Amino acid sequence: MELDILKRIEEAAQFVKSKIGSNKPFAGIILGSGLGELAEIIENKTVIPYSQIPHFATSTAVGHKGNLIAGLLGGKFVIAMQGRFHYYEGYGMDQVTLPVRVMKVLGISYLFVSNAAGGVNEKYRVGDLMILKDHINLMPNPLIGKNLDNFGPRFPDMTRPYDLKLISKAEEIAASNNILVHKGVYLAGTGPTYETPAEYSFFRAIGADAVGMSTVPEVIIARHSSIPVFGVSVITNEAFSFAEDFVNDGDDVVDAANKAADKMTKLFTELISVL
Ligand code: HPA
Repeated sequence: MELDILKRIEEAAQFVKSKIGSNKPFAGIILGSGLGELAEIIENKTVIPYSQIPHFATSTAVGHKGNLIAGLLGGKFVIAMQGRFHYYEGYGMDQVTLPVRVMKVLGISYLFVSNAAGGVNEKYRVGDLMILKDHINLMPNPLIGKNLDNFGPRFPDMTRPYDLKLISKAEEIAASNNILVHKGVYLAGTGPTYETPAEYSFFRAIGADAVGMSTVPEVIIARHSSIPVFGVSVITNEAFSFAEDFVNDGDDVVDAANKAADKMTKLFTELISVL
């Protein structure tokens, strides 16, 4: 099994290398629901559909395109996932996180992650950005199973899951561009149901500011192999004080994320350019 995973990582990485040549990506970027537009401004791009990459799953989630896009962003060579794999799609954690391990083999120095999330902090509004300062994982841990010693230790430290230097640089960039950013705790559940009002209250009570169905497995895998991580949630729904006719809806979530994608793109691009 271990050999099998290592072989899958290596074969996928070799395939991507055969498409991007000798370029070593500086950063990996994972674009969440409705946030794929950042990939459009990558210059000199090579687009690799997931369907061509050995062992990659296919993206079935709404608002997720399913391409790996390599090229220049903020003057640096990056590799971006336009759409991710989710546990709720039925993929195992090894499939959900395979791309992060592939990016590690390709040599990324940073991982940037993004997602659409419900705001459980009552101060958050639809369209706001939240920089991840910490997370609560209520999904299965993707490192369960035999440890891949070449990638990292059996018991990885999680004291600083999100890089403090990247957070403070991002706050400076946000301030100088008049972009409002919160800093908060992201809670990951499996989905695919949205939460009940009681669950939203529970998550608020245990210290979450935003809730979603992704990102944390990728962050755990990145931190296992010591990759510094920067993460942003786009708040797509206000998960408190529900109006009588309110329902959570996946299409509304993607629309709200689309509307805020510009701000997130600006933040990621400027941050990459100053690193
Ligand atoms: N809950 C979980 N995932 C989400 C939400 C939510 O309210 N909004 C966007 N993704």
